[in-house]
Amino acid sequence: MRTLISNIGELVTNADAGILRDAAVLIEDGRIAWVGPAASAPTTHGQEMEVVDAGGRAIIPGFVDSHSHIVFAGDRAAEFEARMAGEKYSAGGIRSTVAATRAASDDALRARLRGFIDEMRAQGTTTVEIKSGYGLDVGTEERLVRLAAKVTDEVTFLGAHVVPSEYADRPDDYVDLVVGPMLDACAPYAKWIDVFCETGAFTVAQSRRVLEAGIARGLMPRVHASQLRPGGGVHLAVELGAASIDHGTYLTDEDVAALAGSDTVLTLLPGVEFSTRQPYPDARRLIDAGVTVAIACDTNPGSSFTSSMPLCIALAVREMGMTPMEALWAATAGGARALRRDDIGIIVPGARADLVLLDAPSHVHLSYRPGVPLVRTVWKDGARVFDRS
Ligand code: NIG
Ligand code: FE
Repeated sequence: MRTLISNIGELVTNADAGILRDAAVLIEDGRIAWVGPAASAPTTHGQEMEVVDAGGRAIIPGFVDSHSHIVFAGDRAAEFEARMAGEKYSAGGIRSTVAATRAASDDALRARLRGFIDEMRAQGTTTVEIKSGYGLDVGTEERLVRLAAKVTDEVTFLGAHVVPSEYADRPDDYVDLVVGPMLDACAPYAKWIDVFCETGAFTVAQSRRVLEAGIARGLMPRVHASQLRPGGGVHLAVELGAASIDHGTYLTDEDVAALAGSDTVLTLLPGVEFSTRQPYPDARRLIDAGVTVAIACDTNPGSSFTSSMPLCIALAVREMGMTPMEALWAATAGGARALRRDDIGIIVPGARADLVLLDAPSHVHLSYRPGVPLVRTVWKDGARVFDRS
Protein backbone atom coordinates (compact mmCIF):
# COMPACT_ATOMS: atom_id res chain seq x y z
CA MET A 1 0.00 0.00 0.00
CA ARG A 2 1.35 3.45 -0.98
CA THR A 3 0.16 6.83 0.25
CA LEU A 4 1.46 10.16 -1.01
CA ILE A 5 0.84 13.15 1.25
CA SER A 6 1.31 16.22 -0.87
CA ASN A 7 0.89 20.01 -0.62
CA ILE A 8 2.45 20.06 2.88
CA GLY A 9 3.03 23.72 3.81
CA GLU A 10 5.55 22.88 6.55
CA LEU A 11 7.10 19.47 7.13
CA VAL A 12 9.00 19.03 10.41
CA THR A 13 11.36 16.10 9.82
CA ASN A 14 13.70 16.33 12.86
CA ALA A 15 16.44 15.36 10.39
CA ASP A 16 19.25 17.51 9.01
CA ALA A 17 16.96 19.69 6.90
CA GLY A 18 14.76 20.34 9.97
CA ILE A 19 11.82 22.00 8.26
CA LEU A 20 10.85 21.62 4.59
CA ARG A 21 8.31 23.90 2.91
CA ASP A 22 5.96 22.86 0.07
CA ALA A 23 6.89 19.25 0.70
CA ALA A 24 5.54 15.76 0.12
CA VAL A 25 5.98 12.40 1.86
CA LEU A 26 5.57 8.95 0.35
CA ILE A 27 4.54 6.09 2.64
CA GLU A 28 5.06 2.49 1.55
CA ASP A 29 4.32 -0.62 3.60
CA GLY A 30 4.16 1.28 6.88
CA ARG A 31 7.46 3.10 6.41
CA ILE A 32 8.54 6.46 5.03
CA ALA A 33 9.74 5.76 1.47
CA TRP A 34 10.52 9.27 0.22
CA VAL A 35 10.60 12.88 1.51
CA GLY A 36 11.15 15.97 -0.63
CA PRO A 37 9.70 18.96 -2.50
CA ALA A 38 6.07 18.46 -3.58
CA ALA A 39 7.07 19.47 -7.12
CA SER A 40 9.30 16.40 -7.49
CA ALA A 41 7.11 13.88 -5.68
CA PRO A 42 7.03 10.34 -7.13
CA THR A 43 4.19 9.64 -9.53
CA THR A 44 1.96 6.61 -9.51
CA HIS A 45 3.72 4.77 -12.38
CA GLY A 46 0.52 2.86 -12.91
CA GLN A 47 0.65 1.48 -9.35
CA GLU A 48 -2.20 2.07 -6.96
CA MET A 49 -1.47 5.04 -4.72
CA GLU A 50 -3.68 6.98 -2.33
CA VAL A 51 -3.02 10.72 -2.62
CA VAL A 52 -3.74 12.99 0.36
CA ASP A 53 -3.80 16.76 -0.12
CA ALA A 54 -2.51 18.40 3.08
CA GLY A 55 -3.94 21.72 1.92
CA GLY A 56 -0.81 23.69 2.87
CA ARG A 57 -1.01 22.57 6.50
CA ALA A 58 1.84 21.33 8.69
CA ILE A 59 2.95 17.71 9.16
CA ILE A 60 4.99 16.67 12.20
CA PRO A 61 6.24 13.29 13.49
CA GLY A 62 3.74 11.49 15.75
CA PHE A 63 4.33 12.28 19.42
CA VAL A 64 6.43 9.80 21.40
CA ASP A 65 5.01 9.90 24.93
CA SER A 66 7.76 8.12 26.85
CA HIS A 67 6.18 8.16 30.33
CA SER A 68 2.68 7.07 31.35
CA HIS A 69 0.85 5.13 34.05
CA ILE A 70 -2.42 4.28 32.30
CA VAL A 71 -3.33 0.86 33.70
CA PHE A 72 -5.29 1.70 36.83
CA ALA A 73 -8.79 2.02 38.24
CA GLY A 74 -10.56 4.90 39.97
CA ASP A 75 -9.50 8.53 40.03
CA ARG A 76 -8.34 11.10 42.59
CA ALA A 77 -10.37 14.16 41.71
CA ALA A 78 -10.95 14.94 45.40
CA GLU A 79 -7.19 14.88 46.02
CA PHE A 80 -6.69 17.31 43.12
CA GLU A 81 -9.43 19.57 44.43
CA ALA A 82 -7.82 19.62 47.90
CA ARG A 83 -4.44 20.39 46.32
CA MET A 84 -5.85 23.36 44.47
CA ALA A 85 -7.09 24.55 47.87
CA GLY A 86 -3.56 24.37 49.28
CA GLU A 87 -2.74 20.71 50.14
CA LYS A 88 0.70 19.45 49.08
CA TYR A 89 1.28 16.52 46.71
CA SER A 90 2.94 13.49 48.31
CA ALA A 91 3.98 10.06 47.04
CA GLY A 92 1.53 8.41 49.50
CA GLY A 93 -1.50 9.21 47.31
CA ILE A 94 -0.41 6.36 45.03
CA ARG A 95 -1.76 3.88 47.62
CA SER A 96 -5.40 4.87 47.09
CA THR A 97 -5.10 4.04 43.38
CA VAL A 98 -3.48 0.72 44.36
CA ALA A 99 -6.57 -0.28 46.35
CA ALA A 100 -8.91 0.54 43.43
CA THR A 101 -6.66 -1.21 40.89
CA ARG A 102 -6.31 -4.43 42.89
CA ALA A 103 -10.12 -4.61 43.13
CA ALA A 104 -10.68 -4.08 39.37
CA SER A 105 -11.22 -6.91 36.85
CA ASP A 106 -8.97 -7.40 33.83
CA ASP A 107 -11.89 -6.39 31.61
CA ALA A 108 -12.39 -3.13 33.47
CA LEU A 109 -8.66 -2.29 33.36
CA ARG A 110 -8.46 -3.19 29.66
CA ALA A 111 -11.43 -1.00 28.74
CA ARG A 112 -9.99 1.97 30.64
CA LEU A 113 -6.57 1.44 29.05
CA ARG A 114 -8.12 1.28 25.56
CA GLY A 115 -9.92 4.55 26.29
CA PHE A 116 -6.65 6.28 27.18
CA ILE A 117 -4.94 4.96 24.04
CA ASP A 118 -7.79 6.31 21.88
CA GLU A 119 -7.66 9.64 23.73
CA MET A 120 -3.89 9.86 23.11
CA ARG A 121 -4.18 8.97 19.42
CA ALA A 122 -6.72 11.74 18.91
CA GLN A 123 -4.09 14.14 20.28
CA GLY A 124 -1.32 12.92 17.99
CA THR A 125 0.49 10.34 20.11
CA THR A 126 1.67 7.36 18.07
CA THR A 127 4.00 5.70 20.62
CA VAL A 128 3.38 5.44 24.35
CA GLU A 129 5.41 3.87 27.13
CA ILE A 130 3.27 2.32 29.87
CA LYS A 131 4.34 1.53 33.44
CA SER A 132 2.89 -0.86 35.99
CA GLY A 133 3.01 0.28 39.61
CA TYR A 134 -0.57 0.38 40.90
CA GLY A 135 -0.65 -3.30 41.82
CA LEU A 136 2.30 -3.70 44.22
CA ASP A 137 1.63 -7.40 44.73
CA VAL A 138 2.89 -10.16 42.46
CA GLY A 139 -0.48 -11.07 40.93
CA THR A 140 -1.66 -7.55 40.23
CA GLU A 141 1.68 -6.27 38.89
CA GLU A 142 1.75 -9.26 36.54
CA ARG A 143 -1.76 -8.39 35.32
CA LEU A 144 -0.76 -4.77 34.68
CA VAL A 145 2.34 -5.52 32.59
CA ARG A 146 0.43 -8.23 30.70
CA LEU A 147 -2.39 -5.82 29.80
CA ALA A 148 0.09 -3.07 28.87
CA ALA A 149 2.04 -5.43 26.60
CA LYS A 150 -1.12 -5.92 24.50
CA VAL A 151 -1.11 -2.24 23.48
CA THR A 152 2.57 -1.20 23.36
CA ASP A 153 6.11 -2.57 22.96
CA GLU A 154 7.33 -0.06 25.56
CA VAL A 155 6.32 -1.71 28.83
CA THR A 156 7.97 -0.75 32.12
CA PHE A 157 7.91 -2.79 35.32
CA LEU A 158 7.50 -0.31 38.20
CA GLY A 159 6.82 -2.63 41.14
CA ALA A 160 8.98 -0.19 43.12
CA HIS A 161 6.53 2.69 42.77
CA VAL A 162 5.86 3.06 46.51
CA VAL A 163 5.95 0.70 49.51
CA PRO A 164 2.42 -0.74 49.88
CA SER A 165 0.64 -0.33 53.26
CA GLU A 166 1.08 -3.98 54.23
CA TYR A 167 4.88 -3.52 54.12
CA ALA A 168 4.91 -0.03 55.67
CA ASP A 169 7.12 -1.03 58.63
CA ARG A 170 9.43 -3.34 56.62
CA PRO A 171 10.24 -1.65 53.30
CA ASP A 172 13.31 -3.80 52.64
CA ASP A 173 11.12 -6.91 52.71
CA TYR A 174 9.04 -5.28 49.99
CA VAL A 175 12.20 -4.65 47.94
CA ASP A 176 13.02 -8.38 48.36
CA LEU A 177 9.60 -9.18 46.89
CA VAL A 178 10.12 -6.75 43.97
CA VAL A 179 13.56 -8.09 43.00
CA GLY A 180 12.47 -11.71 43.55
CA PRO A 181 9.06 -13.19 42.71
CA MET A 182 7.56 -9.98 41.32
CA LEU A 183 10.40 -9.45 38.85
CA ASP A 184 10.19 -13.14 37.87
CA ALA A 185 6.50 -12.74 37.05
CA CYS A 186 6.77 -9.38 35.27
CA ALA A 187 10.07 -9.47 33.36
CA PRO A 188 8.69 -11.58 30.47
CA TYR A 189 6.25 -8.79 29.56
CA ALA A 190 8.55 -5.81 30.13
CA LYS A 191 11.38 -4.02 28.34
CA TRP A 192 12.17 -1.52 31.11
CA ILE A 193 12.77 -1.47 34.87
CA ASP A 194 11.90 1.72 36.77
CA VAL A 195 11.91 2.90 40.41
CA PHE A 196 10.57 5.97 42.21
CA CYS A 197 13.76 7.17 43.95
CA GLU A 198 12.36 9.83 46.26
CA THR A 199 11.58 10.67 49.89
CA GLY A 200 8.40 8.77 50.72
CA ALA A 201 9.17 6.09 48.11
CA PHE A 202 12.59 4.35 47.79
CA THR A 203 16.09 5.29 48.98
CA VAL A 204 19.07 5.39 46.64
CA ALA A 205 20.32 2.05 48.04
CA GLN A 206 16.91 0.39 47.55
CA SER A 207 16.62 1.92 44.07
CA ARG A 208 20.03 0.54 43.14
CA ARG A 209 18.95 -2.97 44.20
CA VAL A 210 15.79 -2.75 42.08
CA LEU A 211 17.54 -1.41 38.98
CA GLU A 212 20.47 -3.84 39.17
CA ALA A 213 18.09 -6.79 39.59
CA GLY A 214 16.15 -5.65 36.52
CA ILE A 215 19.32 -5.17 34.48
CA ALA A 216 20.45 -8.69 35.46
CA ARG A 217 17.14 -9.93 33.95
CA GLY A 218 17.77 -8.11 30.67
CA LEU A 219 15.55 -5.09 31.36
CA MET A 220 16.87 -1.59 30.67
CA PRO A 221 16.80 1.05 33.40
CA ARG A 222 14.88 4.32 33.67
CA VAL A 223 14.31 6.26 36.90
CA HIS A 224 11.75 8.60 38.52
CA ALA A 225 13.81 11.09 40.55
CA SER A 226 14.11 14.61 41.96
CA GLN A 227 10.36 15.23 41.69
CA LEU A 228 9.79 16.50 45.23
CA ARG A 229 13.31 17.55 46.27
CA PRO A 230 16.90 17.06 45.10
CA GLY A 231 18.28 13.57 45.73
CA GLY A 232 20.76 10.94 44.57
CA GLY A 233 18.54 9.44 41.86
CA VAL A 234 20.04 11.39 38.97
CA HIS A 235 23.58 10.25 39.75
CA LEU A 236 22.40 6.66 40.17
CA ALA A 237 20.61 6.81 36.79
CA VAL A 238 23.70 8.17 35.03
CA GLU A 239 25.98 5.63 36.73
CA LEU A 240 23.77 2.74 35.61
CA GLY A 241 23.42 4.09 32.06
CA ALA A 242 19.66 4.65 32.36
CA ALA A 243 17.93 5.67 29.14
CA SER A 244 16.11 8.42 31.01
CA ILE A 245 15.64 10.11 34.36
CA ASP A 246 12.14 11.51 34.59
CA HIS A 247 10.77 14.58 36.47
CA GLY A 248 13.96 16.48 37.42
CA THR A 249 11.92 19.25 39.01
CA TYR A 250 14.70 19.90 41.54
CA LEU A 251 18.17 19.51 40.01
CA THR A 252 21.49 20.60 41.49
CA ASP A 253 24.28 21.99 39.32
CA GLU A 254 26.08 18.65 39.83
CA ASP A 255 23.01 16.79 38.51
CA VAL A 256 22.93 18.99 35.42
CA ALA A 257 26.65 18.48 34.77
CA ALA A 258 26.32 14.71 35.21
CA LEU A 259 23.40 14.57 32.76
CA ALA A 260 25.15 16.79 30.21
CA GLY A 261 28.10 14.41 30.10
CA SER A 262 25.96 11.28 29.72
CA ASP A 263 23.65 9.39 27.34
CA THR A 264 20.82 9.66 29.85
CA VAL A 265 17.89 11.77 28.64
CA LEU A 266 16.09 14.07 31.07
CA THR A 267 12.35 13.65 30.55
CA LEU A 268 10.44 16.72 31.66
CA LEU A 269 6.81 16.29 32.71
CA PRO A 270 5.17 19.73 32.65
CA GLY A 271 1.73 18.27 33.43
CA VAL A 272 3.08 17.34 36.88
CA GLU A 273 4.17 20.86 37.77
CA PHE A 274 0.83 22.12 36.45
CA SER A 275 -1.21 19.70 38.51
CA THR A 276 0.88 19.73 41.71
CA ARG A 277 1.59 23.49 41.68
CA GLN A 278 5.33 22.87 41.88
CA PRO A 279 7.86 25.17 40.20
CA TYR A 280 8.52 24.42 36.53
CA PRO A 281 12.14 23.35 35.92
CA ASP A 282 14.18 25.71 33.76
CA ALA A 283 14.60 23.80 30.50
CA ARG A 284 16.64 26.65 29.04
CA ARG A 285 19.34 26.05 31.69
CA LEU A 286 19.33 22.34 30.89
CA ILE A 287 19.46 22.63 27.11
CA ASP A 288 22.12 25.32 27.25
CA ALA A 289 24.20 23.03 29.50
CA GLY A 290 24.01 20.27 26.87
CA VAL A 291 21.39 17.98 28.44
CA THR A 292 19.18 16.01 26.01
CA VAL A 293 15.60 16.79 26.98
CA ALA A 294 12.36 14.90 26.26
CA ILE A 295 8.78 15.90 27.13
CA ALA A 296 6.11 13.40 28.19
CA CYS A 297 2.63 13.58 29.77
CA ASP A 298 3.07 11.21 32.76
CA THR A 299 -0.64 10.44 32.48
CA ASN A 300 -1.68 9.16 35.93
CA PRO A 301 -4.56 9.82 38.33
CA GLY A 302 -2.40 11.57 40.95
CA SER A 303 0.23 14.00 39.73
CA SER A 304 -0.77 14.62 36.08
CA PHE A 305 -4.10 13.50 34.66
CA THR A 306 -3.60 14.90 31.16
CA SER A 307 -2.89 12.80 28.07
CA SER A 308 -2.28 15.83 25.86
CA MET A 309 1.19 16.19 24.36
CA PRO A 310 0.12 19.50 22.77
CA LEU A 311 -0.73 20.85 26.23
CA CYS A 312 2.65 19.69 27.58
CA ILE A 313 4.40 21.38 24.63
CA ALA A 314 2.53 24.62 25.32
CA LEU A 315 3.51 24.46 29.01
CA ALA A 316 7.16 23.73 28.16
CA VAL A 317 7.27 26.77 25.87
CA ARG A 318 5.36 29.14 28.16
CA GLU A 319 6.72 28.00 31.53
CA MET A 320 10.05 26.24 30.94
CA GLY A 321 11.71 28.54 28.42
CA MET A 322 11.83 26.18 25.44
CA THR A 323 11.36 27.41 21.87
CA PRO A 324 8.36 25.89 20.01
CA MET A 325 10.79 23.86 17.86
CA GLU A 326 12.77 22.59 20.89
CA ALA A 327 9.55 21.55 22.59
CA LEU A 328 8.29 19.72 19.50
CA TRP A 329 11.67 17.97 19.12
CA ALA A 330 11.57 16.94 22.78
CA ALA A 331 8.03 15.53 22.37
CA THR A 332 9.01 13.46 19.31
CA ALA A 333 12.72 12.76 18.70
CA GLY A 334 13.52 13.39 22.39
CA GLY A 335 10.92 10.82 23.47
CA ALA A 336 12.41 8.38 20.96
CA ARG A 337 15.87 8.89 22.51
CA ALA A 338 14.39 8.33 25.96
CA LEU A 339 13.14 4.97 24.67
CA ARG A 340 16.40 4.28 22.80
CA ARG A 341 14.53 4.11 19.49
CA ASP A 342 15.81 5.39 16.15
CA ASP A 343 12.82 4.36 14.01
CA ILE A 344 10.30 6.88 15.41
CA GLY A 345 10.16 10.63 16.15
CA ILE A 346 11.72 11.44 12.79
CA ILE A 347 10.45 11.70 9.20
CA VAL A 348 13.17 10.21 6.97
CA PRO A 349 13.19 7.29 4.52
CA GLY A 350 13.17 4.02 6.45
CA ALA A 351 11.52 5.40 9.61
CA ARG A 352 8.10 4.21 10.69
CA ALA A 353 5.34 6.19 9.02
CA ASP A 354 3.99 7.78 12.22
CA LEU A 355 2.77 11.23 11.20
CA VAL A 356 0.39 13.95 12.34
CA LEU A 357 -1.35 16.43 10.06
CA LEU A 358 -2.12 19.60 12.00
CA ASP A 359 -5.03 21.89 11.30
CA ALA A 360 -2.49 24.71 11.28
CA PRO A 361 0.13 26.12 8.92
CA SER A 362 3.00 25.68 11.38
CA HIS A 363 4.12 23.66 14.41
CA VAL A 364 4.31 26.97 16.33
CA HIS A 365 0.52 26.82 16.60
CA LEU A 366 0.84 23.91 19.06
CA SER A 367 1.86 26.41 21.75
CA TYR A 368 0.39 29.53 20.16
CA ARG A 369 -3.14 28.03 20.26
CA PRO A 370 -3.15 26.11 23.57
CA GLY A 371 -6.15 23.93 24.31
CA VAL A 372 -7.36 23.93 20.69
CA PRO A 373 -7.71 20.47 19.06
CA LEU A 374 -5.29 21.01 16.16
CA VAL A 375 -4.66 17.33 15.39
CA ARG A 376 -6.50 16.58 12.13
CA THR A 377 -5.19 13.22 10.89
CA VAL A 378 -2.87 10.65 12.48
CA TRP A 379 -1.02 7.83 10.69
CA LYS A 380 0.65 5.03 12.63
CA ASP A 381 2.80 2.56 10.72
CA GLY A 382 1.26 4.05 7.58
CA ALA A 383 -2.33 3.37 8.64
CA ARG A 384 -4.74 6.22 9.26
CA VAL A 385 -5.71 5.71 12.91
CA PHE A 386 -7.45 9.02 13.54
CA ASP A 387 -9.18 11.45 11.20
CA ARG A 388 -11.17 14.56 12.03
CA SER A 389 -11.23 15.94 8.47
O1 NIG B 1 5.20 10.00 37.85
N1 NIG B 1 6.19 9.90 40.80
C1 NIG B 1 5.66 8.82 40.89
N2 NIG B 1 4.67 8.36 40.14
C2 NIG B 1 3.73 9.16 39.45
C3 NIG B 1 2.64 9.67 40.35
C4 NIG B 1 1.74 8.61 40.74
C5 NIG B 1 0.57 9.02 41.56
O2 NIG B 1 0.54 10.08 42.25
O3 NIG B 1 -0.37 8.19 41.53
C6 NIG B 1 4.43 10.30 38.75
O4 NIG B 1 4.23 11.47 39.07
FE1 FE C 1 5.58 8.69 36.58
